Amino acid sequence: MAPTEVLPEVVAERGSLGQRTGRVAELLDGALTQAVAVPVAQPAPGDESELQPRAGTADAATRYGIDLFDLAQRAGLTGAAGEATVVDLPRVLAGREAPTWVGLPERIVLVGVGDGSRTALRRAGAALARACENLDQVLTTIAAESDDDGVRALVEGFLLASYRVARVGRREPGRRPCARLVLVGRHPEPAVAAATRGARATWLARRLAATPSNVKNPAWFAEEARAAAAVVPGTTVEVHDEAWLAEHGFGGLLAVGSASATPPRLVVVDYTPVRTRGGSRHVVLVGKGITFDTGGLSVKDRDAMVPMKTDMSGAAAALAATLAAASAELPHRVTAVLPLAENALGGAGYRPGDVLSLLDGTTVEVRNTDAEGRLVLADALTWARRSLDPDVVVDVATLTGAATMGLGRRHAALYTEDGALAAQLEAAAAATGERVWRMPLVPEYRAALESTVADVANVATDPKVGAGSVTAALFLERFTDGVPWAHLDIAGPARAPKAEHEVSEGATGFGARLLARWLEDLA
Ligand code: BES
Ligand code: MN
Ligand code: ZN
Repeated sequence: MAPTEVLPEVVAERGSLGQRTGRVAELLDGALTQAVAVPVAQPAPGDESELQPRAGTADAATRYGIDLFDLAQRAGLTGAAGEATVVDLPRVLAGREAPTWVGLPERIVLVGVGDGSRTALRRAGAALARACENLDQVLTTIAAESDDDGVRALVEGFLLASYRVARVGRREPGRRPCARLVLVGRHPEPAVAAATRGARATWLARRLAATPSNVKNPAWFAEEARAAAAVVPGTTVEVHDEAWLAEHGFGGLLAVGSASATPPRLVVVDYTPVRTRGGSRHVVLVGKGITFDTGGLSVKDRDAMVPMKTDMSGAAAALAATLAAASAELPHRVTAVLPLAENALGGAGYRPGDVLSLLDGTTVEVRNTDAEGRLVLADALTWARRSLDPDVVVDVATLTGAATMGLGRRHAALYTEDGALAAQLEAAAAATGERVWRMPLVPEYRAALESTVADVANVATDPKVGAGSVTAALFLERFTDGVPWAHLDIAGPARAPKAEHEVSEGATGFGARLLARWLEDLA
């Protein structure tokens, strides 16, 4: 059985840190609580004071008998989101007069919450998680004054930064995330549940993408999808093997997978809601699932190949978002279509110059076997359109290095001709912090993909055209046949060189929360 994602527990308790009786007081006095975390906010523009008091901080100061604002000021805190300072209170020598804080948790964490925006609170939550590693239980009032969106962002940040990359080997794991977070103040259970669903989706996507490719292959991914869906009611999983793919004419997916010792698969994960309503849609999420990308005969150089175990991040995000939609019991049908293959290097592989027949009959001149993503996606898009009759299709793929060249690692490139769809995805990006930047499907560049021996070439024939991310999107567009469609090129944000705020080092799980949120807000 595959590991499931075991996240820290988050609970909410009514009350305040100033109380001497009741549940919160019990937790404060209990040995399990090792830290109390309070917010420090940035002053409003024009405000003379340096730091802003926030709910709970004054209560905590009273309860502890310590001037926490003075402490924050002396620690040099500015209140910026993501700042965190840990104050470890001293124990007094035996026989001396007991300090005011005796019996209370010995660690106080002062956390900057900036302007209190969703982004700021997500960063505050992440900073809190990093400051509370290895602890059993932390009490916090950070989101006590926030609305449900704020609570959701805080908890999401906390859970996302609690993710740890699995390590292989005998060395001690060392750091473990804080096991339990208690929100003191209101009782915003739906916000906590929503944050947990989002974080669980990201954890799943990260774990799948971080798994090394000596473990991860198309059949392995298919089993992981089965295992993950097995615990989510309302979902079904179909796995199609290479014989089925051949029988149905998946010329792109089969060619890309042909050099590998582990043959391709098409995985279809479906969530059909029990209750629909007016406006219920059928959404198909198509995710690029290359379990390793050597480039094939157009081989990558050694450095470029190193991170290519994450070339199935799109499939992981599409799977995770579909399961999140099911867990939330959304009124829309959501189907993830995941073309999985290893783009290996070997004598049985496809070659530059080959002409492939794709599922819809389009013939493709292979000019570069490293432009494999668009070939597997073309077949998947065709299959989705023909057999699922979707209202809207979004594909998500680590498709081009060019997208990273243009936008860096903090934005996905978003392509669509549908303005309303673009606005929805941009809103989901703003809500989740998984940012997108809309790019143009420049019609003039279609000509760049013309071939003299086939209907289309898989890369631009003339290198002077540039716009590698745009031409890749234009290639995919050919297979959408007018169905409302958006394409997310996540080659940049799917990986991060180092951990920052809620983003983890290595595989980031980018796209899972973005897509889940888009589905959640779909009217
Ligand atoms: N998986 C890569 C894209 C990629 C590059 C993802 C860097 C993440 C980081 C994709 O299959 C690829 O190799 N694309 C080529 C396309 C080119 C041959 C037209 C690229 O970007 O170089
Ligand atoms: Mn490639
Ligand atoms: Zn690739």
